[in-house]
Amino acid sequence: MMFLYLSGTPQSLAEGFKEKCGWNIARPISKIFPDGEQYVRLSENIVGDIVIIQSLYPEQDKKIIELYLALEAINGVGASIKCLILPYAAYTRQDKRFLNGEPISTRAIYQGLKLFGINIIITVDVHSIHSLTSLGFKVYNILPHTYMLSIAGEKIDLVLAPDKGALSRAIEVAKNFNVPYDYIDKFRDRVTGEIRINQKELNVAGATVAIVDDIVSTGGTLAKAAQALYNAGAKSVIAVVTHFLLPKSIELLSSSKISKLITANTISIPTTLPTWIHVVDISSLICNEISKWVSN
Ligand code: R5P
Repeated sequence: MMFLYLSGTPQSLAEGFKEKCGWNIARPISKIFPDGEQYVRLSENIVGDIVIIQSLYPEQDKKIIELYLALEAINGVGASIKCLILPYAAYTRQDKRFLNGEPISTRAIYQGLKLFGINIIITVDVHSIHSLTSLGFKVYNILPHTYMLSIAGEKIDLVLAPDKGALSRAIEVAKNFNVPYDYIDKFRDRVTGEIRINQKELNVAGATVAIVDDIVSTGGTLAKAAQALYNAGAKSVIAVVTHFLLPKSIELLSSSKISKLITANTISIPTTLPTWIHVVDISSLICNEISKWVSN
């Protein structure tokens, strides 16, 4: 089995696959033509069964095109694609027509992968697993929050889902740490993007609370949740979020007094981060998932 990784794969993850998992990994040559179009070329020895790895962030659109070019090249040399690993699967948040006239972006982007024989996707904390399974993919969705919290060695008193969509994550983590969970009701205005939460009583006085979520984008969701927790008397708030998309949110998160943000290396993150942000290597979690059904 050969593992081919593309430019979106964080270096630390690729190194983890090689060193911790012993995978035979290679990266195709890629470049940009003067007019901005992308070019990909496989090395000579791409044969047999291939697993392809691409994280679709940052510059999602470029990463998607690079993936499609690589898939076509793999088909072209007659190798067979066993599965696709997407540590971060972009365009899965617009998984329905929230407003009239909108596309189902997940369908627009992912349906075409079928043309290249992709039937299995291994991903990490995808926003909507249904958005992919409804297209006929078999999806293995790795939830890393318990692992990330354990690696960071945190002791927590309660797990909070910042909206109902994150509740299943919170329940799983709470069960694994044997602590209670709660949630708050969050609403985002689909036109302005403004976030509101319904005030409710939270029983968190003096507690260390872990907020678990899939994505930090603007940081608005975490900031509102942290504010609600501190207003209710929480001692400390830790955020455990799989994909840290926008470093621009750092200022907002810092001012909302989040004491620690634990995230995974599913996407390339700048190396100069404040000390309260911890990035956990999750290559072993992905290897474990693959080894359940593929022999190297
Ligand atoms: C929303 O449903 C997601 O699970 C995240 O809570 C959301 O994408 C986070 O976005 P932001 O950081 O912009 O609030």
